[in-house]
Amino acid sequence: IQVLVLHGPNLNRLGKREPSIYGTGTLEELNQQLVELGTELGLNVTCFQSNAEGELIDQLHMAEGKYDYIILNPGAYTHYSYAIRDAITSIDVPVIEVHLSNIHAREPFRSTSVTAPVTAGQIVGLGFIGYELALMAIQRSCQKTAL
Ligand code: DQA
Repeated sequence: IQVLVLHGPNLNRLGKREPSIYGTGTLEELNQQLVELGTELGLNVTCFQSNAEGELIDQLHMAEGKYDYIILNPGAYTHYSYAIRDAITSIDVPVIEVHLSNIHAREPFRSTSVTAPVTAGQIVGLGFIGYELALMAIQRSCQKTAL
């Protein structure tokens, strides 16, 4: 089972960026954790980060036929990118949306996700654990019904 983890803008700054909100772990550490957990769960995890909307869209398009599931944190694009939303609906690969912070407990503009309605589900506010839960959900859903 092939899983693509897509990190959006500013997530390359993890560890340095507002650590009281996003924690002190780096993106590299997160990715390593996910690859390791993936191996334990029988999932092949590939990670990609971009600060550019178009690159995230290209990755979503390219995922079709190559990946079985996508875990996506669109960063601030979550709140306004209809283009990323359209990219999600244009492909036949289930997407799980993950946010490190609780977007519902912050500035009002963050509580809206334009992408969440076209995803299989959303996990927020649990830090790195949210991504791990997404991998577990994928593993479980492969044993039962599809996401
Ligand atoms: C985020 C929340 C967004 O509002 C913010 O713009 C991010 C990170 C999160 O993971 O909590 O870049 O997606």
